[in-house]
Amino acid sequence: MTQRPRLSVIGTGYLGATHAVCMVELGFEVIGVDVDHAKIDSLRAGRIPFFEPGLPELLAKHMNSGALRFTTDYAEAAEFADVHFICVGTPQKQGQYAADLTYVESAFRTLAPHLKRRTLVVGKSTVPAGTAVQMEQVLTELAPADGVELAWNPEFLREGFAVEDTLRPDRLVFGVHSDWAEQQLRAAFAPVIESGTPVIVTDFATAELVKVAANSFLATKISFINAMAEVCEATGADVTQLADAIGHDARIGRRFLNAGLGFGGGCLPKDIRAFIARAGELGVDQAVSFLRDVDEINLRRRARTLELGLDLLDGSYRGTRVAVLGAAFKPNSDDVRDSPALDVAAAVGRRGADVVVFDPEANETARKHAPELNYVGSLNEALTGADLVMLLTEWQEFRNMDPQAVSSLVRHQNIVDGRNVLVPAQWRDAGWHYRALGRP
Ligand code: UDX
Repeated sequence: MTQRPRLSVIGTGYLGATHAVCMVELGFEVIGVDVDHAKIDSLRAGRIPFFEPGLPELLAKHMNSGALRFTTDYAEAAEFADVHFICVGTPQKQGQYAADLTYVESAFRTLAPHLKRRTLVVGKSTVPAGTAVQMEQVLTELAPADGVELAWNPEFLREGFAVEDTLRPDRLVFGVHSDWAEQQLRAAFAPVIESGTPVIVTDFATAELVKVAANSFLATKISFINAMAEVCEATGADVTQLADAIGHDARIGRRFLNAGLGFGGGCLPKDIRAFIARAGELGVDQAVSFLRDVDEINLRRRARTLELGLDLLDGSYRGTRVAVLGAAFKPNSDDVRDSPALDVAAAVGRRGADVVVFDPEANETARKHAPELNYVGSLNEALTGADLVMLLTEWQEFRNMDPQAVSSLVRHQNIVDGRNVLVPAQWRDAGWHYRALGRP
């Protein structure tokens, strides 16, 4: 039986930091690598540089165990580890749909010359189909040792549930070119496999596509229900009841059918765009042309949310005070990448309102992206004196608001429920003008 391999995790952002810490929890020795000294300093000091429930506790648990360390030195990682996980980001290219592979290429090119014994390099980053073959070529050209191999192992973790998704994933996908690579991966995930997680062993292209196909499906499911919300708005129907009713059909399922302001974050929007771009290069644009609609439906929800606010303010945002509840792209995260909430908040600000934002965790990250808005430290401060309240990220604290109690704080009782999480009758009974996406 293969011994437990020692692991390196290259790139310590959301994905890499989580992977590194969770692999230690699963019993491995791990070295985390990043070129960003600030990130490494923070991790060494026991601080996770972003908000992720459960992760700080796990880091604290393993900090001084000797099984986890962090470095900016690739040579040290190469010396230490038998299996290297590449976890760097693949953001959207500025002004284009395609993914920016600069960080992935740089990670492979920097690591490869240090690989002086047989090792497995595992790509985890979300990449366009065809990238793995190119990275395999980089290893062949630049790694001095014989038998350095590549595998592709996409990651499906959700922010906010990243620890759970890493320790107990739905499935593992191994894109490999040899039995040896498969055996190394099986050893690197032994505790996860032993607990019954299904493993799909496949080729590189399928492994790469599984990730973008999964995210495309999820994005499509959300845009489907948001398209139904548009039809509900035209007919007076209620999209939340519609979702409940169709969701009872097990073939459809109720999860990911929450209509509202739509999807954002560091994955879904850029992954569908990168997929459109790659499909174009491959000559199969038509196969994924529906993703353009998925993207457009999603963005139309932001425009519709602005309209709902405008209706409540009698046609102008100018000179009003608007309380924006939520800036993160979803609750239990401080991530504001392509955040629908922050996008709407900024648009309201451009229309002349005094925008006061409160997010339980994302105020600081939001401030960096939209410094022109005002950020306050509590829900009550945000609500005080508001002419309009916009609930844009469904944090539990906002869902729990008592319409009676908060009415005394605002100047005018106007609320837009951008996530369909409030009970309309309760708010209307308490004297509020309530508007929501896809329901009367
Ligand atoms: C997603 C995938 O779920 C995950 O498997 C992949 O690895 C990375 O991308 P994440 O970006 O963390 O994860 O967020 P997710 O929970 O999928 O939510 C994405 C967006 O969709 C959020 O903005 C959320 O508010 C929105 N959403 C989700 C809806 O609008 N309606 C829903 O029913 C579900």
